[in-house]
Amino acid sequence: MRASDVGADVLEQVLGERWSCRGYTDEPVAPQTLDRLLTMAGRTPSWCNTQPWNVEVTSGEATVRLKEAMAADERFGPDIDFPASYDGVYAERRRESGWQLYEAVGVAKGDRAGSAAQTMRNFEFFGAPHVAIISTTASLGPYGLVDCGLYVQTFLLSAQALGLGACAQAAVAMRSEFLRDWFAMDDDRQIVCGIAFGHPDPSHPTASYRTTRVSQPESVTLHD
Ligand SMILES: Cc1cc2nc3c(=O)[nH]c(=O)nc-3n(C[C@H](O)[C@H](O)[C@H](O)COP(=O)(O)O)c2cc1C
Repeated sequence: MRASDVGADVLEQVLGERWSCRGYTDEPVAPQTLDRLLTMAGRTPSWCNTQPWNVEVTSGEATVRLKEAMAADERFGPDIDFPASYDGVYAERRRESGWQLYEAVGVAKGDRAGSAAQTMRNFEFFGAPHVAIISTTASLGPYGLVDCGLYVQTFLLSAQALGLGACAQAAVAMRSEFLRDWFAMDDDRQIVCGIAFGHPDPSHPTASYRTTRVSQPESVTLHD
């Protein structure tokens, strides 16, 4: 087998096994593993190699202080507009993954209080001992945002490859102004999302299901 085949097998396995982890143990990520994760994520490509992501990572008490201060702050609103609506297939896919999550945690259809409680778990980073807050620079516009999206994916895959769990969290961007102040970011920074991460708790109810994907022909057109 050629080395590249081995690489494809490993990557395929990591891609196939990664999921959004929403239940963690208290065990912190070892410093050398954290360093490896951030070095791997830093290999992300970007347009003109601008590397516009800025990443604030919390551990231990810093995660606790951030959660508490965020809960006590009243400012809400993302820097980057959230979708105004989800229509057609997007609404269907969103609904399906939402129901999977609610079913796993025992929230019945129509239980608004239950679904709101699950949404609020976002602001506790799902109990993860770490969160990474990803910001872009407004000056690079949508392509800076694209580069940050790539960074998020590299981070998620690297975490998976290192045996960690991780979940991207756009919900955290609802607290953009607070986060910019808390981390003393420059005014041009825009919060993209958070990434909760740590050691997955395999017995957590949210670990019991995996999301689906559309078949390849639904999203890809081949032209000969
Ligand atoms: C940019 C981005 C933002 C996300 N924001 C949230 C979020 O705020 N809360 C949450 O529970 N999941 C969030 N997710 C996780 C998605 O719901 C998840 O990736 C999707 O349902 C596919 O499931 P999988 O990651 O388990 O394969 C986000 C994912 C991405 C890529």
